[in-house]
Amino acid sequence: MGQGILSRIAAAVGTPTFVYDLAAIRRQFQGLDSALGAVPHRICYSVKANSNLAVLHFLRTLGASADIVSGGELARVLRAGFAPGDVVFSGVGKTLQEIESAIGAGVGLINLESGAELDLVADTAARLGRVASVGMRINPDVTTKTHPYTQTGGKGMKFGIPLDEVSEVACRAADRKSVVLRSVGMHVGSQITDPSPYREGARKLEAVVEQLRAAGINSLQSVDVGGGLGISYNDDPGPRPEDFAAAVQGLAKTTGLRLLTEPGRFLVGNAGTLLARVLYRKRSGGRDIVVVDAGMNDLLRPSLYGAHHDIRVLEPGAPADDSAAVDVVGPLCESGDFLGLDRRLPGAGVGALLEIRGAGAYAFSMSSQYNSRPRAAEVVVEGGRYAVARTRETIEDLFRGEASEPAWSTT
Ligand code: LLP
Repeated sequence: MGQGILSRIAAAVGTPTFVYDLAAIRRQFQGLDSALGAVPHRICYSVKANSNLAVLHFLRTLGASADIVSGGELARVLRAGFAPGDVVFSGVGKTLQEIESAIGAGVGLINLESGAELDLVADTAARLGRVASVGMRINPDVTTKTHPYTQTGGKGMKFGIPLDEVSEVACRAADRKSVVLRSVGMHVGSQITDPSPYREGARKLEAVVEQLRAAGINSLQSVDVGGGLGISYNDDPGPRPEDFAAAVQGLAKTTGLRLLTEPGRFLVGNAGTLLARVLYRKRSGGRDIVVVDAGMNDLLRPSLYGAHHDIRVLEPGAPADDSAAVDVVGPLCESGDFLGLDRRLPGAGVGALLEIRGAGAYAFSMSSQYNSRPRAAEVVVEGGRYAVARTRETIEDLFRGEASEPAWSTT
């Protein structure tokens, strides 16, 4: 996004503010869609990456389906106009209430994570007089070279049905009249930059499909290869959707099933930027410290994963000694509250406008009100225009639902 529009937004909406470039989302979506063009497929946007209603609505107009993991995300996608049949409900700990809402709404697929969940879904569907389309998320025992917190496909992790239980759960599903097994799938991790885990996982899914067909299960319609496709957080070229497609398309061809994928970050990560202003500068223990008005409550990734986000100066601030690298930190009372360490940032004096890039995915959606800080505003940009897509929270929002004199329960 150009410096001009970002400066205008900062002046009008204030900082910290997230800005999402819809044209960039469209490019990513279309790039992936055409890379997968050789096989029937559906791109189910993983809502947790960025669940702003305007972003969801835009992705729907592009033709995306949705991958959700909670009742809250279900409500969001329905509000954004997704047809319930285009919604895949994933997640390792769905509550009874969430399962009821999903079946009641008529979601297209519920991805089961265990045999116990199969029982709950089948019982609930029977009680509601419905037949639920279900998928099985398997744990393919595939590891990825990503941050340990974003690996999900390894043995012993909480995700997916272990390979040695898949047949048994599938046969039990086949015996229940209130569910129909439509899909098998995986999700092996996030920020994956090398296609080999997809190839390895796809081979295992193919074996599972063969095994189920051999057991007489012929209801499958799709295979779900999950999300996880990574992006570049600096100027290097990122992973290519063509390489991802090459790793997974064979699975759709050999099985004859439709391919589902659940990308989040790939579609929105680099479409977003976080605007922040420099509040103070100080020198301490030989380090130059730049204190800005955005912090770990707005963008947790640097603190939680040691993630790198490029930072650029959009408007210079008051003259400062720019000879040394600086640490860009937030205002929260935590030493882990930083946005970037050891950066060369000429112009980052007091009052400077900075952008913290790559903030379209897992940024606002992981933000909090820690230190009683209202959550930032969100703005969308398209064709030189901008619109506020979520207003900045107010101080009143901070204590909505709280009571300074609680009404004590008497039961
Ligand atoms: N499908 C499932 C079942 C998932 O759990 C996830 C992400 C996705 C799809 C989408 O993954 P993506 O394409 O966005 O990589 N907070 C971390 C990432 C956590 C991802 C959680 N699951 C981060 O900021 O890097």
